[in-house]
Amino acid sequence: MNETEKRLIDFYQLVPHPEGGYYKETYRSDVLLDQSTLPSPFLGHRHCSTAIYFLLVEASFSAFHKILSDECWHFYEGAAVAIHVLHPNGTYELIKLGNRIDVGEQFQAIVPAGAWFASKTLGAYSLVGCTVSPGFDFNDFELANADELTQMYPEQSTLIQQFCRS
Ligand code: GUN
Repeated sequence: MNETEKRLIDFYQLVPHPEGGYYKETYRSDVLLDQSTLPSPFLGHRHCSTAIYFLLVEASFSAFHKILSDECWHFYEGAAVAIHVLHPNGTYELIKLGNRIDVGEQFQAIVPAGAWFASKTLGAYSLVGCTVSPGFDFNDFELANADELTQMYPEQSTLIQQFCRS
């Protein structure tokens, strides 16, 4: 790990995320949404919105996972990030989150609820933000199993092998 990454982990008190990378929650709304106001997959209440810093480093990746909320990604610093999205309708989308808008990178991008997604820095490291609403809860988070995901998206088997740990 390079000095910049160590500095960011230290400064923001980032911790390892189960999907890979390092994160720190920076915001959790005090507003609670009752289960009756949420779509059916949510069990129990949720905070209205949450935000994190998320650091991806060269040696690692964020493995395929899905959550029940839309997730908004924000680019802050470092190299661009490749976000691989497998949509519920079977299509694959590659999002490049970064600051070079002339080559198609986006400062902000949305990964829709229910899509499987994985990400990797395209350089030494990337510092980004992720905001979700309804707010993030590990009960809404599922890491993919490579064999099961490949059955759902057979054309993406190479990508799935590359970005799953189980
Ligand atoms: N809080 C803990 N993990 C996550 C995550 O993966 N995304 C968001 N937005 N918040 C989190």
